[in-house]
Amino acid sequence: MVVFAVLVWTGSAPAQTKPVSTGPVDIQAGQILYNGHCASCHGIGGVGSKGPELLNVGPAAVDFFLSTGRMPLASPNLEPQPHTPYFNPAQIADIVAYINALDVEHGTPGPGILDVTPACSNQTSDCPTLSEGDQLFLLNCAQCHDASGAGGMLSHGYVVPSVRQATETQIAEAIRVGPRPMPNFGPGQLTNQQVSAIADYVYNLSHTKDPGGLGIANFGPVPEGFVGVIFGLGVLLLVARLIGNRG
Ligand code: HEC
Ligand code: HEC
Repeated sequence: MVVFAVLVWTGSAPAQTKPVSTGPVDIQAGQILYNGHCASCHGIGGVGSKGPELLNVGPAAVDFFLSTGRMPLASPNLEPQPHTPYFNPAQIADIVAYINALDVEHGTPGPGILDVTPACSNQTSDCPTLSEGDQLFLLNCAQCHDASGAGGMLSHGYVVPSVRQATETQIAEAIRVGPRPMPNFGPGQLTNQQVSAIADYVYNLSHTKDPGGLGIANFGPVPEGFVGVIFGLGVLLLVARLIGNRG
């Protein structure tokens, strides 16, 4: 009760999803780009053909795949890879608006684009802290991406990319979307606030504002031992999850 009262009292704005344009001009501009660059694989109106249908995919997925240059693919048989984006941010926003309009028309749109809020240094406020992000990253992500975020290798030969090139928005999107074979994390597993804290932590791994304060290498042997334990647990969890999925 007391904690709840304090949270309400210090209440900073919780991390929210960004609004997507519903303006007819933007939607129409997006439709033209979509028909020219996506419909050959995803079908007219997003119903799918050589590529998956996009009718419940949501703004986060469209923005992630376009802003990391994974889409448009050159051929439906290729694996999506990060590239220089094909479209500029305004064009991406138009395509997001068009596919969002399709999604809304067809039912429940998938996850929106999270407006990542900067982490707070104040441990007692309800604003996420970098250390919270650090812990959540170690528990949920480090088993694949490495505690340093440098990436690694999965079974079946999948390469796990470094998370160090991604923007805060892209990190938050990846968490919600789960670009295959990465699992997605829904709001039941990680709240918007927690996703925001992870995104800010990961972004700070490679864009450190205070070079002395962050990064596991700065904390000496005790936390590294702790990371070892967490990493071991993570691998077990991952193996359990993979067995669960395949079984
Ligand atoms: C040459 C074929 C091709 C073109 C062109 C193409 N895509 Fe794709 N797209 C695919 C395939 C295949 C996948 C599935 C990839 C996978 O999961 O391995 C995919 C996946 C996606 C996903 C993720 C879907 C999901 O369920 O997670 C999104 C979003 C997407 N494409 C958007 C687009 C947009 C927007 C365009 C146009 C700018 C586009 N794609 C152009 C073939 C294509
Ligand atoms: C089971 C292993 C696994 C777990 C767990 C995992 N990821 Fe991933 N992640 C991947 C793989 C594999 C890719 C590449 C997918 C692709 O390129 O389509 C990826 C891609 C990403 C990307 C995109 C990088 C870029 O620049 O293209 C980000 C960001 C990311 N993950 C962050 C996270 C975060 C944060 C977590 C924890 C909440 C997490 N991942 C958990 C395997 C994993």
